[in-house]
Amino acid sequence: VRKYLSRIFRGTVKASGNFNASADAEVLHKAMKGLGTDEDTILQLLTARSNAQRQQIKATYKTLFGKDLVSDLKGELGGKFETLIVALMTPPITYDVTSLRNAIKGAGTDEKVLVEILASRTPQQVKDIIAAYRQEYDDDLEEDVSGDTSGHFKRLLVILLQANRQRGIQEGDIENDAQALFKAGEHKFGTDEQSFVTILGNRSAEHLRKVFDAYMKLSGYEMEESIQRETSGSLRDLLLAVVKCARSVPGYFAETLYYSMKGAGTDDNTLIRVMASRSEVDMLDIRAEFRKKFACSLYSMIKGDTGGDFRKTLLLLCGGDDA
Ligand SMILES: *[C@@H]1O[C@H](CO)[C@@H](O)[C@H](O)[C@H]1NC(C)=O
Ligand SMILES: *[C@@H]1O[C@H](CO)[C@@H](O)[C@H](O)[C@H]1NC(C)=O
Repeated sequence: VRKYLSRIFRGTVKASGNFNASADAEVLHKAMKGLGTDEDTILQLLTARSNAQRQQIKATYKTLFGKDLVSDLKGELGGKFETLIVALMTPPITYDVTSLRNAIKGAGTDEKVLVEILASRTPQQVKDIIAAYRQEYDDDLEEDVSGDTSGHFKRLLVILLQANRQRGIQEGDIENDAQALFKAGEHKFGTDEQSFVTILGNRSAEHLRKVFDAYMKLSGYEMEESIQRETSGSLRDLLLAVVKCARSVPGYFAETLYYSMKGAGTDDNTLIRVMASRSEVDMLDIRAEFRKKFACSLYSMIKGDTGGDFRKTLLLLCGGDDA
């Protein structure tokens, strides 16, 4: 049953049925020709094609017009709308690789990006990211991440980069793991962060969910509460992301989206990254989790927090309202 379920498509952006890359390339070329730009045509077309189809359009555009589609789009569009459209034009693994590179090589380190990507991607995706990073930059991602971070935060990132979690549930270890986490935190003066890092970084999601239940019975606390109390800074953010992803990856992204828009100002980069990267993966599940956790739908929150072509594109990626 699990195998069947995982094959059901849970994205909102789908491949177009009667796809013609030449026709699409011509439409986009026309939308950017002459004075002014037809933004609406661009955003309607690109959100109605899968990422793989966008790559075909890009190749055909090059053949037909001798120009790079993404460069042309960058020349015509601007601001966060441009950033979102360029994100949609980028193949998923390349998008993660570029996001990580910018997070490391920019001024300071954008820890949020490291946490989000490395806590949420599947082991196979992490392996593909490492390989693509080496190919693109001739650098080792683990070395670059290590060079830019420190302490237990670094240790857990490196464990996640091994993409080598145990598989399945180790029945015999559930109680031990819960005990070890309790002893490392609530039952101790100070905190033994290493135990959190080793257990949370190295056990399967199914196993961890059992450990969290056992931990609750033992301590009377949710794992997240104890992490909030016992750790701080970027290590805390990473541990929380790992725990939330073990419970539910769509649930984690629902929260990430909510907090990117909540309060004064919007974290556009996070909003763009999550909407672009999950639209063909699990946006329907993210929407359902969002509606369950918060007093509004993802659609209505995007509508209230953004504007213009940026908003129009995000709403098309969201794919509908959940009353
Ligand atoms: C695809 O579109 C091009 C340009 O509009 C057209 O010439 C061609 O016949 C179309 N191909 C198919 C298979 O419909
Ligand atoms: C994680 O688990 C793997 C395989 O089960 C094991 O080889 C490795 O030593 C463990 N790593 C840590 C840091 O516990």
